[in-house]
Order: sequence, then structure tokens, then C-alpha cells
Amino acid sequence: MRPKKVLVVYYSQTGQLTSVVKSISQAIASESIQVTHEALRPRTDYPFPWPTLEFLDVFPESVYLDPPPLKPLQVDVNASFDLIIVGYTVWYLSPSLPITAFLKSPEGKQLLANKPVITVIACRNMWLMAQEKVKGLLARAGARLLDNIALVDAGPSLATFITTPRWMLTGKKGGPGGMLPPAGVAEEDIKRAARFGRAIKLALQQDLEQQGQPLLKGLKAVEVNTNLIASEKIGQRSFAMWGKLLRKIGRAGDPKRKPVLILYMIFLIVAIVTVVPLNMLIKTVLSPLTRNRLRRQKDFFERPSGSQSQRMQEFMHD
Ligand SMILES: Cc1cc2nc3c(=O)[nH]c(=O)nc-3n(C[C@H](O)[C@H](O)[C@H](O)COP(=O)(O)O)c2cc1C
Repeated sequence: MRPKKVLVVYYSQTGQLTSVVKSISQAIASESIQVTHEALRPRTDYPFPWPTLEFLDVFPESVYLDPPPLKPLQVDVNASFDLIIVGYTVWYLSPSLPITAFLKSPEGKQLLANKPVITVIACRNMWLMAQEKVKGLLARAGARLLDNIALVDAGPSLATFITTPRWMLTGKKGGPGGMLPPAGVAEEDIKRAARFGRAIKLALQQDLEQQGQPLLKGLKAVEVNTNLIASEKIGQRSFAMWGKLLRKIGRAGDPKRKPVLILYMIFLIVAIVTVVPLNMLIKTVLSPLTRNRLRRQKDFFERPSGSQSQRMQEFMHD
């Protein structure tokens, strides 16, 4: 039997997403399964830590899926893979720009056409709108999405609202003054992501990837926080408006965007500290009335893999 081939495509700045995809891919690689990694390389890479204005300046293009050029891929684009894992982080409720670039590129589309795909997200905690966009881009590339895995920062939303930007803008991951939990996905959650790799390995050995059904049900691949659904939708609408205005003013990097970006940052902070808690309060008060609708939304956004955990024990250890 010929060995199966898995391609893992990702872009990570701090190495957090790299650790997540490696935790998964190391558990897949075996005698019968070859794993190839493709770390995307923008022609001009993004800085880390981010200067504040550059951090803000990527928002309009991220939201409008307007990608930068990438350096040529290292993988042979004529190769045919049995499964492609697309690992991405979220930038402004959208896939990070290098991933958008890959999904839209002729090379990416060639690799993805008619192939089963598993998406792997590692972000702060808001990934629903990004995954809807990725679903659209994958469909346009002719790929079949089998599963989605989302790892998030487990800290309280208000704490991560401080610790994540602090990490991005200063490079400091530890909680400020030891008062807040450190930013990022917990090490333990990254290690435990190996369960997905073990389940994928078994599924590939049984040719299950060809059937178009999820491979990772019962492994708690995602868990939607219903408190954040409305905030994501509102955020998405506001990003679209401000993004449109900024794109009219100038292209990415144009100094003419600066004053509006600063205004936008102030607006964003005020909006987040008011809208998000207000939304959560309204949600709690109205919860008896909205319970069914929220359950339906949770179910929708958790597709295809779901948040059930009945098979976790089976795959927790080698
Ligand atoms: C420009 C930018 C925007 C971000 N926007 C979001 C967001 O909308 N939602 C979210 O959950 N995380 C967001 N993050 C956090 C990233 O998804 C990710 O967790 C972080 O960049 C670390 O990933 P990496 O070092 O593996 O690339 C953002 C990060 C950056 C740099």
C-alpha cells in the first residue's frame, strides 16, 4: 500500500500555532503516513511584536480578504495529498492575511481542489466569523471541509482583552504584574491536541477521509461560547464599515490612514468595553427567551466536529 500524504499549511508569528499544528501532526506521522509542513512566508513579513499603527493598519485588508503576496511555496504544487490541514490564527475576526493569500492563490487552489481539509485555529477566543470566511474560501477552492479544531485562550474575556494586545504589541506573554493569567492557549491544551492527530492517523489508516464525514466528532474539537456570538456579529459589521472607509483613504501602509486608524482604535476600545459587557448582560437577562435560538446558533457554529467529548479518553494517550 502506498503511504498516505498529509500536508500541513500554517502561518504563525510567535510559534503558538506552530506548536498546536505540530502537536497534532507529530501524532499523525507514521510509517504509513507522510506529513509535509508548509510554513507560509509573506514576501514582506509582518513584524512581531507589532508597532501599534502597523497592528491596526492590517485590519481593513484582513477584513476584506485582500491578501499580500507570498514567497513561492516550498511544497510541489502538483503533488496530490490525501488530507490537507490548514492551521490559521484570527486577525480581526478574519483569517490571518498569509492564510487568506494561500487560500486565494492559484497554487493553494490547485493543492486544495477536491481534497478533504481540516482547519485548525489557535486564537484569543473570537473565531466564528473567521471560520465562516474560511469556509467560503475553501468552497471556492473546491475543497471539502471535514473538521474544524479551535483552541482558544481560556482566560476570562475581559482579561484576555488586555493580555492579548499586550502580548502582540510588546511581546510579553506573562500576565501584567502577575495579576492576570498569561496570554495565549494553555500549554496543556496544546499537548492535549495530540488526540486529534491520533484520531486522524486511525481514520487515514481506515480510508475514512474519503467518505466526506467528520473524523473528529466526540473529541471536543470546538466549544462555542454563546456569549460571544452577538459581539462577533456586531464587530464584523463595524469592521466592514471602518474598513471600507480606510480602504477609500489609501492602500495598506499609506500614512494618510493614520489619523483614521487612531480614531478607530479609540472607537474600538470604547466599543469593546461597553458593547461586549452590555451584550453579555442583555444576553443573560433575555436568556430564557433566546435559549433555543442560541442553541441553534451554537450547533451551527460548532459544525462539523461538534463539542461532544465521548471519544476523548480513547485518544488521550498513545
Ligand atoms: C493583527 C491581529 C489581530 C488579531 N485579531 C484577533 C481576533 O479578532 N480574534 C482572536 O481571537 N484573536 C485575534 N488575534 C490573536 C491571534 O489570533 C493569535 O492568537 C496570535 O496572533 C498568536 O498567534 P501566532 O503567534 O501563532 O501567530 C489577533 C492577532 C493579531 C496579530
